[in-house]
Amino acid sequence: MALQRTFSIIKPDATERNLTGAVNACLEKAGLRIVAQKRILMTRAQAETFYAIHKERPFFGELVDFMTSAPVVVQVLEGEDAVAKNREVMGATNPEDAAEGTIRKLYARSIGENSVHGSDSPENAAIEIAQFFSGNEIVG
Ligand code: PPS
Repeated sequence: MALQRTFSIIKPDATERNLTGAVNACLEKAGLRIVAQKRILMTRAQAETFYAIHKERPFFGELVDFMTSAPVVVQVLEGEDAVAKNREVMGATNPEDAAEGTIRKLYARSIGENSVHGSDSPENAAIEIAQFFSGNEIVG
């Protein structure tokens, strides 16, 4: 399979606990290459756009509050089957359901404060990457 790219966020609960390196170690161990990365404080407008698909859900306000509460690390990951591989190493959305050894099982606090985001399809990965990175910031 050809190389694929996916978009990842290390969320505020993880950056606050100084877990950026620990999360990156999990990603790299799984065979994903970090080809772009920056630490940012997401604006409300950025978070509302990013999570627009969830805007009718009851937790939307809480999700936007959380994602703008502290720095996040936005990333582009590259590898074979990168979208699925990243979802696998992240583990289930709710850490109570996450498999042993996954990032969320190891580090997530709750379904909201769940340490990482990863794109759910190659199409969404392209949209999400374009929201945070310009082409010359991605070095494969
Ligand atoms: S998934 O993986 O998209 O099917 O998961 P989903 O349940 O649809 O959740 C989408 C994102 O919303 C976050 N989430 C919540 N935040 C706060 N409170 C509650 N109760 C809650 N439930 C879900 C969840 O962490 C997902 O964030 P991302 O960044 O997309 O992983």
